Amino acid sequence: MVVIEQTAELKTLLVGHRAKNRSIGFVPTMGALHDGHLSLVQNALSSSDVVVVSIFINPTQFDNEDDLFKYPKNLAKDIDLLQSIDENIIVFKPSKDSIYDGEVVSKTYNFNGLEKVMEGAFRTGHFNGVATIVELLLNAVSPDRAFFGEKDFQQLQIIKKLVALKKIPCEIVGCPIAREANGLARSSRNERLSPEIRQKAGFIYETLKTAKIKFGTESVLEIKDWISKTFTNAADFDLEYFEIADTDTLTPAQKIQVNRTYRAFVAVYSEQVRLIDNIALN
Ligand code: PAJ
Repeated sequence: MVVIEQTAELKTLLVGHRAKNRSIGFVPTMGALHDGHLSLVQNALSSSDVVVVSIFINPTQFDNEDDLFKYPKNLAKDIDLLQSIDENIIVFKPSKDSIYDGEVVSKTYNFNGLEKVMEGAFRTGHFNGVATIVELLLNAVSPDRAFFGEKDFQQLQIIKKLVALKKIPCEIVGCPIAREANGLARSSRNERLSPEIRQKAGFIYETLKTAKIKFGTESVLEIKDWISKTFTNAADFDLEYFEIADTDTLTPAQKIQVNRTYRAFVAVYSEQVRLIDNIALN
């Protein structure tokens, strides 16, 4: 397994593959890999000749120092996991200086409001940080396709907007949410939960599934009321937001229009760990 730390070295290696007409698939991650990440890697492997997986904990997308500090790291295990899938995967693990090439700061983007709601409203500067690093990574790798999880659905929509705005010739592929046996969306942050709460946290997905059932017959306001009561009664989980939003524009819905599709989005705190999830409603 090749692990590359310098952007210039990666570019040189990929020029060789491209000269042989090999397609390049790219999976950006922050490491602490789990089955969610690995499902993206499998997707990339099935549609690309060469797969690059980046591992970089991007400081500019953290709005909370403590979250950045506590972000799980396990490079040796990550490499073992990738190696067990396919030893030809190229791991790109840039240093801050190599990838940022100067000051480690975010650029400012305008994504037509996609960045203002939900995660954008509660995590100041988060999407500027995400877009900055993804733009840098896409420029370093120049992949034909890049794979992102629907777990971070708002991020996925923003990256699609980013490549359109910056005219980056790369197809952005969305991949379904991988879940633990109890329905909890897989996340590197789940490791910070106690076993008891991790088990109980299946509650979040159960609640989303019930919201989906209610979506057929109840108004947005009624569903939001029900969610708010349900979380008030769940002592272990603090609701940060629940939103029903248009799938494409992410505009929060007040009234449902027949020709649009919607998703429900939730952010929850438990044991000071922030968990997010979402579900397609129609
Ligand atoms: P990270 O949280 O490591 O996630 C890397 C990719 O894995 C993202 O596209 C994310 O949506 C996807 N992913 C995470 N959990 C998933 C799950 N349970 N099911 C399916 N996909 C899942 O997202 C980031 O890193 C960063 O913001 C990054 C894009 C790398 C930029 O720094």
